[in-house]
Amino acid sequence: MKKENYILVLGAGGNIGGKVAQELLSRGAKVGVVGRNRSRLGQFEGKAEVWEGDFNDDAFLHQAFLKANRLLLTVPDDAFTDVAATAQRLARLLQGTAVTHIVNISNSIIQKAGKPTRLVALEEELNRYLPQHLLHLRCGNFFENLNWGLHTPYAPNLKLPYVSSYEVAFEAANHLQQRDFTGKEVKALLGERDYGMAELAAAAGVTYQQLPYTPENIHFYRPFNEGDFEVEPRIGKREPGTDERFTLTYFLQHDLQRGKV
Ligand SMILES: NC(=O)c1ccc[n+]([C@@H]2O[C@H](COP(=O)([O-])OP(=O)(O)OC[C@H]3O[C@@H](n4cnc5c(N)ncnc54)[C@H](OP(=O)(O)O)[C@@H]3O)[C@@H](O)[C@H]2O)c1
Repeated sequence: MKKENYILVLGAGGNIGGKVAQELLSRGAKVGVVGRNRSRLGQFEGKAEVWEGDFNDDAFLHQAFLKANRLLLTVPDDAFTDVAATAQRLARLLQGTAVTHIVNISNSIIQKAGKPTRLVALEEELNRYLPQHLLHLRCGNFFENLNWGLHTPYAPNLKLPYVSSYEVAFEAANHLQQRDFTGKEVKALLGERDYGMAELAAAAGVTYQQLPYTPENIHFYRPFNEGDFEVEPRIGKREPGTDERFTLTYFLQHDLQRGKV
């Protein structure tokens, strides 16, 4: 495989990484997919180079980086305990590689409870330590979050941006292929509009029940319900997507796991 055409996708066993890799492969790109578990990368066997290993394994990650010149970055949960250390480590492991352009999956909730959210804090550290061109895609909530449960502690009418993971993958693939960003850039992916949980549950045919907080989740939900958060501004009106996969209706018909919710 030619290094100059090689796009490495982290988190390819998951939702966004998997869809970005599929989108790139459907366009004929040369792709490497990274995940801990080969069984979750099965769809890529014979189509992409499969890298089975842990994000936290320096030697493994550096070897994978050495093959690539572009990178889709998704950072696993356990790397958020020290975002500065994670950014410094990535900078070190990218040194001596041909990687010039990185698309990083970030969050449209830019601050909560008076602090930058963890993905936005990571953005700042990546900008500080990585010399590569970096595009942070500040994504709204993925529709897939509804598969975690249609009843949550969110206030019924609290509106948040929701976006299709197919749209995120489409945008990420465009930018990785075109390398149309320089320096450090941010792009908001907020979907067509904001939704409240009562509305989303109703669209799925369910009457929303706001759940009480638990000790484990109160720190996550309460700042939202008390309005103590800031969302990336929605500038202008988004053109309705021409791709039906980008819509809530498509998600509800094809990807909502009714058995789970
Ligand atoms: N959910 C949202 O609404 C939302 C909104 C904005 C941004 N985001 C961010 O978007 C990113 C991607 O989300 P997603 O929905 O695609 O997540 P996901 O479906 O959970 O996928 C994450 C992938 O990361 C892999 N992974 C986890 N720990 C790893 C490790 N130590 N080494 C190697 N791979 C590891 C997992 O691989 P295995 O297959 O090996 O387990 C999994 O396939 C996350 O950073 C998330 O915070 C989410």
